[in-house]
Amino acid sequence: MTTFSSAQKEIPPGMIDLGIGQPSPWLLPVEAVAKAAAHCTGHPEGVLLAYGAEQGDGHFRLALSRFLEGIYGMSVDPTHLLVTNGASQAIDLISTLFSKAGDTIFVEEPTYFLARKIFADHRLKPTALPMDSDGLIIEAVEEELRRSRPAFLYTIPTYHNPTSVCLSASRREQLAELSRRYDFTVVADEVYHPLSYTSAPPPPLAAFCTSTKVISLGSFSKILAPGLRLGWLQAAPEVIERIVKCGLLDSGGGLNPFTSGVVRSAIELGLVDENLALLKDTYSRRMLAMCAALRRQMPESVGFMEPAGGFFIWLSLPEGGDALEILPKAKERNIEFMPGPKFSSRQGLKNCLRLSFAYYDTPDLLKGIERLAAVIGQG
Ligand SMILES: Cc1ncc(COP(=O)(O)O)c(C=O)c1O
Repeated sequence: MTTFSSAQKEIPPGMIDLGIGQPSPWLLPVEAVAKAAAHCTGHPEGVLLAYGAEQGDGHFRLALSRFLEGIYGMSVDPTHLLVTNGASQAIDLISTLFSKAGDTIFVEEPTYFLARKIFADHRLKPTALPMDSDGLIIEAVEEELRRSRPAFLYTIPTYHNPTSVCLSASRREQLAELSRRYDFTVVADEVYHPLSYTSAPPPPLAAFCTSTKVISLGSFSKILAPGLRLGWLQAAPEVIERIVKCGLLDSGGGLNPFTSGVVRSAIELGLVDENLALLKDTYSRRMLAMCAALRRQMPESVGFMEPAGGFFIWLSLPEGGDALEILPKAKERNIEFMPGPKFSSRQGLKNCLRLSFAYYDTPDLLKGIERLAAVIGQG
């Protein structure tokens, strides 16, 4: 049967799928994007419809640099920015240009499950490095560096997916220093950095771009709308130059010039700031309500940390607990989640699971926690 679905994810009726890490449909900024599109297409020149500059539209990069300066609290040079089709495409492009099949890369354990899939497409071999409540453990990185050199290290330093942990400020400096000393590239996926709820995160790894081989990734998927497929990377001029010369950009020109024009207008009209404020307010309320429900309803043996930003709550079941075994029982009760092993590069994390508060409003989140607590409480 042919189907004509528009969405990536279909949810069966009645199901509450706390695995979904994307915004609720009502949070997609339809009016703001329409307003921005009318604003940018009102300009006389049709330049947005031509092949674009390889690095991405210069006016957009200037608007983006000002927006990022507000978020990061540091200066951002528009010549250090390159427009992408989102962080996923940036990860794919970096894998193409900075590694070859069979290379070792360093990743966190756990790490973003779909980045794992992109790395697998490129036949890269992940070495999983441990994290704690302050993020990636730098001593473990250095120990591994003495054994082998990665094509690059992939990290999610701020409001990590799936754990929501933040790499501490001192570890950020240590990681940048290691990348200098051992001369390897750090790919910092910073897509959740703008979504802070309780306190400001440490400065982004983007702060180290000019003096090291750090490549920082950002995306409008988390702060405006994933369907725009618009993101950026920030890096030193030599890195940008290498990417600008690649075959993909040589053939097709800059990525997503039309959408860049729309989002430039959205930034200049203040619509991205407005949307971000709404998201932070909405997500932080949901997160607090969900954490309170987890404290009330989950058995004491279930652990979690209240996130300071991002989309996720990472639960750990007691030793011997198995999220993959629980999942079918959960689905019978119309509740789903992301099991820990999805995020593991060594088939571990069986006793962990990820819940997201990005998609559902609080009443459904609470209903979901109630169902999940009943399943987990059953043992
Ligand atoms: C850590 C991380 N990186 C990248 C992405 C995908 O970003 P984009 O939509 O910009 O490709 C996600 C989305 O879930 C994510 O969690």
